[in-house]
Amino acid sequence: MRGNGPLSGTVPIGGSKNAALPVLTAAILFDRPLTIDHVPRLRDISTLLALLDVLGVRAARDDEALVLDGSNLTSSHAPYDLVRRMRASIYVLGPLLARTGEARVSLPGGCAWGPRPVDLHVLAMEKLGATVDVEHGYLVARAPKGGLKGGTIRFAVSSVGATCNALLACVTARGRTRIENAAEEPEVVALAEFLEACGARIQGHGTRTIEVEGTARLTPVRYAVIPDRIEAGTFLVAGAITGGELRLTGCRPDQMESVLDAVRAMGFEVAAEGTEITIRGSGPPRGTQIVTAPYPGFPTDMQAQMMALASIGSGVSVITDTIYHDRFTHVAELGRLGADIRMDGNTAVVHPCAGLSGAHVMATDLRASAALILAGLIAEGETRVSRVYHIDRGYERIEEKLRAVGADVERVQEEGP
Ligand code: EPZ
Repeated sequence: MRGNGPLSGTVPIGGSKNAALPVLTAAILFDRPLTIDHVPRLRDISTLLALLDVLGVRAARDDEALVLDGSNLTSSHAPYDLVRRMRASIYVLGPLLARTGEARVSLPGGCAWGPRPVDLHVLAMEKLGATVDVEHGYLVARAPKGGLKGGTIRFAVSSVGATCNALLACVTARGRTRIENAAEEPEVVALAEFLEACGARIQGHGTRTIEVEGTARLTPVRYAVIPDRIEAGTFLVAGAITGGELRLTGCRPDQMESVLDAVRAMGFEVAAEGTEITIRGSGPPRGTQIVTAPYPGFPTDMQAQMMALASIGSGVSVITDTIYHDRFTHVAELGRLGADIRMDGNTAVVHPCAGLSGAHVMATDLRASAALILAGLIAEGETRVSRVYHIDRGYERIEEKLRAVGADVERVQEEGP
């Protein structure tokens, strides 16, 4: 890619990866086909469908809809080879236990920025009466006689994944479940709303305390995945960093307030109307302070993109990640483009720089690769981002969407190692 001046035009926002993953996994709970609309075409979705297929859930795309049929589950074994590709594969633990009474799920292992434990997922299953052992790198879980039983799950840390897994496990459990210190993310609320539409009895989703009355059987309904607030946030920054004018369509601005406010605080005009967001603005961004936090706080999944924006700022910015203390693998790569970023524990201090210049950089994870592409939109000369398979995990046809609003970006085959 080469810097190519201000972007302008319209960007349609797709379905949310992080909302689609738990909803698709819920297909394990149903003994009849389920139709889900607005499912993005992403590597992580393909990985999940491959895992569901191994378990016996058949998936077929019918235009934009995905039809999932879990009527003939054949296995409750989630193999390492698939789980290691995507941590969210752990979501199969809860519904497999609920549907079959047992689950053998590979431990996901670490990720680009360090250990990401699953102890809270295990805790949730144990509070529903299951036994969970670790054997040869696998979680081996068994439900009690008669199936999972409602209970009280108190999370020490707010976890999106563990809250989703607990919901998927307890909606058909016997009796009442109370989830305390639950995650409030829109993706958690969307899962609860989907399960409710299928007959589940859930209260409090979107708050820290969720109550669920188990129901014996769920009835599949047709459901559309919510828009991707992180994809929308990434394109918002694309508009800001190039000093352009972009209109994002098919969004949920109500789920993005902290991001919209942060970009406004850096001096950009951001308007939100219905399902549309427009950004306009020129001149270097102002320095700012960002501290990531669980929703409705500032999302850690936008931290790297905002750092790319801050790297061309007129003032110093201070960015702290309280969710993942070492989610900073993009700092060195932005440094290769000329950014002046100094680390202090889980805080990055971003100093103004003379401007970014193109270079060969390496993507290390999904959002880090988005940050490098954003920086490449304004770096002088050519920027080459390697390992873009990371970006395909969470962004559908990003280079096409960028080109449609004026970016000079292309995907090229990479020579061997
Ligand atoms: C979800 O991951 C998202 N992934 C992540 O987005 C996102 O960064 C994260 O939530 C935080 O918002 C999906 O939705 C698929 P957590 P998840 O459990 O569920 C600790 C992206 O870029 N924790 O909310 O794995 C954990 O270490 C991805 O799209 C435990 O200690 O995150 C972290 O510090 C990257 N034990 C904190 O909780 C556990 O058992 C929040 O993690 C689970 C989590």
